[in-house]
Amino acid sequence: MNQKWSAGTYDADMAFVSGFGQSLIDLLNPQPGEQIIDYGCGTGDLAAAIAERGAAVTGIDASPEMLAAARAKYPDLTWVLADGQRYRAAAPADAVFSNAALHWLPDAEGAASSIAASLRHGGRLVAEFGAAGNIASVTAALPRAFAAAGRQGQAVLPWYFPSVGEYTSLLERCGLSVELALCYDRPTPLSGGEAGFRGWLNTFADGILSVLTPAEREQVLVFMERELHAQLYQDGRWVMDYRRLRIAARKV
Ligand code: BEZ
Repeated sequence: MNQKWSAGTYDADMAFVSGFGQSLIDLLNPQPGEQIIDYGCGTGDLAAAIAERGAAVTGIDASPEMLAAARAKYPDLTWVLADGQRYRAAAPADAVFSNAALHWLPDAEGAASSIAASLRHGGRLVAEFGAAGNIASVTAALPRAFAAAGRQGQAVLPWYFPSVGEYTSLLERCGLSVELALCYDRPTPLSGGEAGFRGWLNTFADGILSVLTPAEREQVLVFMERELHAQLYQDGRWVMDYRRLRIAARKV
């Protein structure tokens, strides 16, 4: 999967990603002096918001482009280029935080083991990401769009969207005690009017679309817009069928 991130476009068009994360920071309730790791920190806005509450934050991300943007905006924080499926923290942290990132890590066992190893005993995990059924409209339509463009069977979806049972069992196997597991629908409006869904696909499905020629890519984008317009376009904007899994857990 060749997913590429453009930090500039991401900050401008996908501001909702960190906007929705504020309530997750309230759940984390960071305390002054705590060591906190943000898994999949992206361009760093939520890590910076946690640091504003007095915690010492390390942001990790596998995208050099995202991390460079985070470092440029918030040079005083610690940024580490790392794969969250294998990362090992230099010292155990008081908390791990993650918003809208864990669904990008298909080796969920590796990520959960990494998180567990990053925490001190009694340390907490507060995370939110896509649950089973997240963007079901997109995951159902993309294979059909590829088939219509002559690319039957070649839409390889990279995302990990587990059920509550699947993910809480995984965390327990990794030595975490789950205190909250909440699955909820969170319809998510996009900016950009009619062009908003195309922008979303070009940002978040770039890796999936990267196997296509420019003409095939255009065909897939048009197919997706036509196919999902009636379902997702409401009152002049696209509203994505996000379904979230919110987790709070503690290392035993
Ligand atoms: C999300 O649920 O945040 C998401 C899932 C897949 C692609 C992009 C975003």
